[in-house]
Amino acid sequence: MDILKINSKVKPFEVHFENDFLFLEKLFNLENSMVIVGNIVYKHYKKTIFDKFSKEKLIVLELDEDRKTLESVTAIYDKLLNLSAKKNLTLISFGGGVNQDVVGFAASTLYRGVNWIFVPTTLLAMADSAIGLKTSLNYHSFKNVLGTFYPPTDIYLNVGFVDTLEKKDYYSGVGEIVKFLLMEKNAFDNLESIASTVTSLTSTPSKSFLTGIVKKSIKIKLGYMEGDEFDTGRRNLLNYGHELGHALESSSKFAIPHGIGVMIGILFANQVSYKRGWLSKKLYRYINDHILLNNLKPDVIKLEKDHFEETVILENMKKDKKRLSDSLPLVLPDKNNSLIKITDFSFEEYLSNISELKSFLNLN
Ligand SMILES: NC(=O)c1ccc[n+]([C@@H]2O[C@H](COP(=O)([O-])OP(=O)(O)OC[C@H]3O[C@@H](n4cnc5c(N)ncnc54)[C@H](O)[C@@H]3O)[C@@H](O)[C@H]2O)c1
Ligand SMILES: [Zn+2]
Repeated sequence: MDILKINSKVKPFEVHFENDFLFLEKLFNLENSMVIVGNIVYKHYKKTIFDKFSKEKLIVLELDEDRKTLESVTAIYDKLLNLSAKKNLTLISFGGGVNQDVVGFAASTLYRGVNWIFVPTTLLAMADSAIGLKTSLNYHSFKNVLGTFYPPTDIYLNVGFVDTLEKKDYYSGVGEIVKFLLMEKNAFDNLESIASTVTSLTSTPSKSFLTGIVKKSIKIKLGYMEGDEFDTGRRNLLNYGHELGHALESSSKFAIPHGIGVMIGILFANQVSYKRGWLSKKLYRYINDHILLNNLKPDVIKLEKDHFEETVILENMKKDKKRLSDSLPLVLPDKNNSLIKITDFSFEEYLSNISELKSFLNLN
């Protein structure tokens, strides 16, 4: 086991990389604690984990992207307050990014903050969201517009949980990892090594390989967050692939999972860069052929023409919370293959690029 201590300005917290499940014993016996888990994770691990918590401690909720809302949070408040939860409560939650966002929001607001331990169970939550410091809720059709800054106190991370993920959810994690690998210093000079990592990730990787890649992703993310925890400058670059990605999640009613949307978003951002004469044809093609497209095959995700309706996507992109002006926000590689956020991405340039992307993905 090894521990990564993160000295966040919000509050310091620890990521415990676990090679086994002995850490659960500590959690089974924790005083003044309540466990919150979504019904899918509950079903998979009922016998091995959740039956070992006393029944009164367990809150099982239906949790999915459509339920990443204030209603789910108020359901948690109701349950906890009916059980006379006090300020010294510790919430223990098991799940992916949705569980993290909902439980984290509840933990940060109940009594202005109760203790919270998070056990990420998706690849995406392990490699990315768990250390994001943020909690986010959707509001009507606006994605991630409500939220707080609130990391868990402790994160217990065991990559073994990914074994039960559906293929599309596993690849969603791969998508977010691809983003981090492409954001590493000089990444565009090392594309062959990134391609080989992605191939290993998608062909039954060993647990130690997977743990290594999760650690690497976390370190790259922390590098971008350093000095900018509150999302005002450099941290914005972590949004690479997310402008179109978020819009596609909404336009597909979440049939396209987060990290897969991000991969298509990266393809789109790179295409805009290429069309502007910045990213070279050689690199643009290499990234598509060897890193992105092999994760977007029909056995992983079936892309539907309906999910790529120009006007619907444009409306969704306009709702992006990071949009500050009349143009659309976009992070993309510049002439030197460094990521930048442009502020002159017009609706016209967007429309011509979306139609190009659709023909590229054979969705016309
Ligand atoms: N707060 C942040 O900093 C941050 C950062 C990135 C993403 N996010 C959010 O995270 C969400 C995506 O997270 P996600 O990809 O983890 O999705 P998710 O939480 O919806 O999980 C995906 C699916 O996998 C199921 N699942 C979870 N663990 C499982 C397991 N071990 N075995 C079988 N099934 C399992 C879930 O029930 C769900 O159906 C998005 O809402 C995104 O906005 C938040
Ligand atoms: Zn993301």
